[in-house]
Amino acid sequence: MAFTHKHLIDISEYSADDIMLLLEVAVKFKEVNERKIKKVPTLKGFTVINMFNEPSTRTRSSFELAEKRLSCDSLNFGGSSTSAVKGESLIDTIETLNSYKVDMVIVRDKHAGVPRLIAEHVDAGVIDAGDGKHQHPTQALLDLYSIWENLGKLEGLHVGIVGDIGHSRVCGSLIPALKIMGATVTVIAPPTLMPARPDILGADYVSSNIDEVLPELDVVYMLRIQRERLEGAPYPSLREYNLLFGLTQARERLMKPDALICHPGPINRGVELDSYMADHPKRSVILNQVYAGICTRMAALYLLLGGSDDGLTA
Ligand code: CP
Repeated sequence: MAFTHKHLIDISEYSADDIMLLLEVAVKFKEVNERKIKKVPTLKGFTVINMFNEPSTRTRSSFELAEKRLSCDSLNFGGSSTSAVKGESLIDTIETLNSYKVDMVIVRDKHAGVPRLIAEHVDAGVIDAGDGKHQHPTQALLDLYSIWENLGKLEGLHVGIVGDIGHSRVCGSLIPALKIMGATVTVIAPPTLMPARPDILGADYVSSNIDEVLPELDVVYMLRIQRERLEGAPYPSLREYNLLFGLTQARERLMKPDALICHPGPINRGVELDSYMADHPKRSVILNQVYAGICTRMAALYLLLGGSDDGLTA
């Protein structure tokens, strides 16, 4: 199947077929990651810039590993080590990088819309690695991959996303991605952590009571409170938040026997998720999500740089 996208900035621009192709190619790259020698020459000669202007552990390290395992050249760039601190504008910075004739720019930025702006000024493709409260599309891909791998399907599942819905870029990509793949989505949060217009999120249901919804869910997707994007406390105390909205051991009795626990990381243990649930040997797929990050990001790089499923030489 042909893959026609140059950028991965808004997951809503992708069809169910596009997403399924990405997941199927990720399965092939998982096989590479299981080998003793975890490196293939697939993207030899391509150049990728990792431009991270905001902290990251998982996204940055998995993109860097994905690039190394695909044999492309990469340049790590961003934050306080650039000439932006001397007053250089973002556009001038980007046009400088564009002069190097790179093939892909991967961007994380605290401002929503920066990846799209960059795409308008470079010849390369652009992957959004998380921009402000907007989107985090490769996070959505790795989430879909983990759920699909563990439950064998996406269509017909009921996924509950619990926590700081209002400030979450993970939600911004995951909700449309799940809807494209035929899942039902409920968002669950206190009113102070819900957007003013929750209807625009595209979820099927909105709730402020986790205990009512838990028995219906196939996947419980917990979110961290994004304190870096908050002014003031959204809740009287973190202990009270944990009691009312946290996925605690006491709440396991409300869950379906096979329901999964997901979290994009980083976790604030004891707030949105107790350690018992975060480390649950049967339900938690959180480290599986991290591993899926390498496989799905290899697939995204490969397909966006012109690969096809029948031409895969992994
Ligand atoms: N999930 C996620 O984006 O984690 P990092 O901020 O560590 O990349």
